[in-house]
Amino acid sequence: MKNTAELDRRRTFAIISHPDAGKTTLTEKLLLFGGAIQSAGAVKNNKIKKTATSDFMEIEKQRGISVATSVMGFEYKGIKINLLDTPGHKDFAEDTYRTLTAVDSVILVVDSVKGVEEQTEKLMSVCRMRDTPVIVFVNKMDRPGKDPFELMDELEDKLSIKVRPLSWPINNGSDFKGVYNLYKKHLNLFNANKTAVERDIVSFSDLQSPKLEEIIGKDADTLREDAELVEMAYEPFDKENYLDGLLAPVFFGSALNNFGVQELLDTFIEIAPTPLPRNTNLRQVLPTEKNFSGFVFKIHANLDPRHRDRIAFLRVCSGVFERNKFYHHVRLNKNVRFANPTSFMAQDKETIDSAFPGDVVGLYDTGNFKIGDTLSEGEMMTYKGIPSFSPEIFRELENADPMKAKQMEKGIHQLTDEGVAQLFIKQPGNRKIVGTVGELQFDVIQYRLLHEYGASCHFRPMPMYKACWVSSNNPAKLKDFLDFKANSIALDKDGLPVYLAESKGMLDVMISKYPEINFAFQSEHN
Ligand code: G4P
Repeated sequence: MKNTAELDRRRTFAIISHPDAGKTTLTEKLLLFGGAIQSAGAVKNNKIKKTATSDFMEIEKQRGISVATSVMGFEYKGIKINLLDTPGHKDFAEDTYRTLTAVDSVILVVDSVKGVEEQTEKLMSVCRMRDTPVIVFVNKMDRPGKDPFELMDELEDKLSIKVRPLSWPINNGSDFKGVYNLYKKHLNLFNANKTAVERDIVSFSDLQSPKLEEIIGKDADTLREDAELVEMAYEPFDKENYLDGLLAPVFFGSALNNFGVQELLDTFIEIAPTPLPRNTNLRQVLPTEKNFSGFVFKIHANLDPRHRDRIAFLRVCSGVFERNKFYHHVRLNKNVRFANPTSFMAQDKETIDSAFPGDVVGLYDTGNFKIGDTLSEGEMMTYKGIPSFSPEIFRELENADPMKAKQMEKGIHQLTDEGVAQLFIKQPGNRKIVGTVGELQFDVIQYRLLHEYGASCHFRPMPMYKACWVSSNNPAKLKDFLDFKANSIALDKDGLPVYLAESKGMLDVMISKYPEINFAFQSEHN
């Protein structure tokens, strides 16, 4: 059946990293291998620079470019690879978390000098929640970095996952000679050359051979010892464990020097999962099912402020998506069809007639979609697992122009539908509390409300610690709590009660005082 063949050749993944570890550089090199771009630099331009926090025009410009690069599809050795872009800037972390719900695996880039950094830990904890298979790429081996064994321990400790090196570095920094591929048993020799694609690969099944000295000189003994130690310290690579998200294979290289990248890509297409089943509120849906279904994980406003249309990114989960066919929009309980669904190939967009599980389709939207929405062929199911994390910064949104109250109302709802921030409504007076994970979002909201909706606003800081979704099996107890804390209770977009905790101390007191109440730091859309 055509569908199965298409399924088998799809790999949908994301690259995650702490900013500056080399995600953009690696993305670019992968696209070069896939022939999707012709020169380095094409992806780089898409990056929001660290200095851009106050440069809104820059953000706008970048947003425009990133529509096309949100999904980068390319073919490599007959495999259709969908690489979903995740914003590197930490203020856009929520966008990244949501994108992770639409992939089947990830490649985690770690800087060999800095090791596991804060953002790496957060992103990995999201992967852990969903048991997403992870391949680790230790980057920047051309720099004097940490001892690789220490790095392996750090990965295991901080990321709570078992690791298994599949390649092993020979020295690092200016003495970096390359890696030994423990899996394929060959030496991959490094020669610092940013433009070369081909590498010196020497098949080398017996590390004891004196030929090793001829090739890597005095480092031969160290490599022999290291390789022996690796075999002793780590269990053999078990693909099932990797697919279950329990074991992360590790590669070493230098993305900038295009070193170790092809090795990574070749192993990736060999072991990474094909589109996986996904859970809905009713049942698990298999990608092989005949009927189409999928969910929206990202919404992107179009750049032109005169047209308020947006692009909703839909991950196809089962069946075949077809252009101009009616599908059921489950939340709105109505049928919708799309005349111009778009696929993304690196920098290009094109209208497509059909898409298969694992693919991401861009749907032009005039306000029908919210993040988490499901399309099906009629079954009233909703895909689960799109997280909404507890924001970390809270401000009250105040209208600066009474004549534009309606525009502001509409604007803030649409922007929060897109997932730019979370909106909580607090009584009395329908006060709007906006929660974000980063400062940058407030600038983006203010700018977009003005330029897209003509509404000017300002933000009043609210000294809050965290938003916790509260629930209980005991309705009387929940009511007790909600009454007791009435001043700190708000409703989220779906009308669920949220406790806006004043401080960590107060939250701890409430948690111990109300054992029957469940305090959750994330909720699911829908
Ligand atoms: P990110 O997307 O994870 O934030 O990282 P990005 O690829 O932008 O890389 C961050 C910096 O690290 C860049 O330098 C990049 O050139 C450098 N880099 C990436 N891979 C390697 C590597 O294997 N070895 C070394 N030595 N450096 C690497 P930059 O100076 O910030 O940017 P640019 O001016 O070079 O573009």
